[in-house]
Amino acid sequence: MTIAITGATGQLGRLVVEKLKEKVPASEIVALARTPEKASGLGVESREADYERPETLERALRGVDTLLLVSSNEVGKRAAQHRNVIEAAKKAGVKRVVYTSLLHADTSPLDLAEEHLATEAALKASGLSYTILRNGWYTENYTGSIAGALAGGAFIGSAGEGRVSSATREDFAEAAVAALVGEGHEGKTYELAGDDSWTLSDLAAEISRRTGKEIPYKNLPESEYAAALKGFGVPEAWAGAIAGWDTGASRGALYDEGRQLSALIGRPTTPLSTAVADALKRNS
Ligand SMILES: NC(=O)c1ccc[n+]([C@@H]2O[C@H](COP(=O)([O-])OP(=O)(O)OC[C@H]3O[C@@H](n4cnc5c(N)ncnc54)[C@H](OP(=O)(O)O)[C@@H]3O)[C@@H](O)[C@H]2O)c1
Repeated sequence: MTIAITGATGQLGRLVVEKLKEKVPASEIVALARTPEKASGLGVESREADYERPETLERALRGVDTLLLVSSNEVGKRAAQHRNVIEAAKKAGVKRVVYTSLLHADTSPLDLAEEHLATEAALKASGLSYTILRNGWYTENYTGSIAGALAGGAFIGSAGEGRVSSATREDFAEAAVAALVGEGHEGKTYELAGDDSWTLSDLAAEISRRTGKEIPYKNLPESEYAAALKGFGVPEAWAGAIAGWDTGASRGALYDEGRQLSALIGRPTTPLSTAVADALKRNS
């Protein structure tokens, strides 16, 4: 059985390859990358697979039984890119595609949902067997801002009292591995989120507790938060998008209490306090 992973050079894909090697022989794993040299350290075969170049995809998918399609990070181009992968998978005779979608993609107010839903629809229409992993937010999306919050004296955002059921990339990577190698996941859609939810005030309190510095959460109107991000050097379009997602979070877009992620990985998801401690250790 051969399992291939797209986006294998990305942060999630790398973790999936690493964890998959603990479950199946490395000889049964293929890392797909638009720049295969970037995948050379993964310890598995790597093949060129560029979502924008269908000829590379069909070649890369030859002999593959199960494919993990990690959603592209090129927002706006993704529906077409993912369609290329699904068409190539069909031509190459792939048996099942596991796709990383977005939490509650069918009801989510986030602008990101549209491309994920289009991909889910393309997958269902393809006739291929599929498993959809609707991933919630990575905790790292927030812990990545701890250094900035410490430097600025406050954690800023627009999520208000919105609760975020995040989990770490490691948790989501283990879920992908479970869906790839486990039985009975055909035709299933999983809503994957952390066991516990928290607000940005909770996050600021946790940072304060662990560092001994008073870091309050400062909630900003969406436009002010976008402007602040731009001031920190985030490109304008991206700053607007991030602020918009935070507003979505204030409306519950990132909240889920189904605990399907911990059920899939067979252990509790990583608590916020652990993720904050790990991030502070990395920053020190
Ligand atoms: N749930 C969340 O909170 C969250 C947050 C951010 C993103 N996401 C989504 O989850 C995905 C995985 O997350 P991540 O943290 O691993 O993202 P990441 O580190 O940015 O990795 C994205 C991967 O997509 C690959 N890619 C981009 N364009 C491609 C193309 N044209 N052809 C082939 N590969 C291409 C990149 O290849 P290169 O290495 O060559 O650049 C990289 O391997 C993201 O791509 C995004 O869709 C989710």
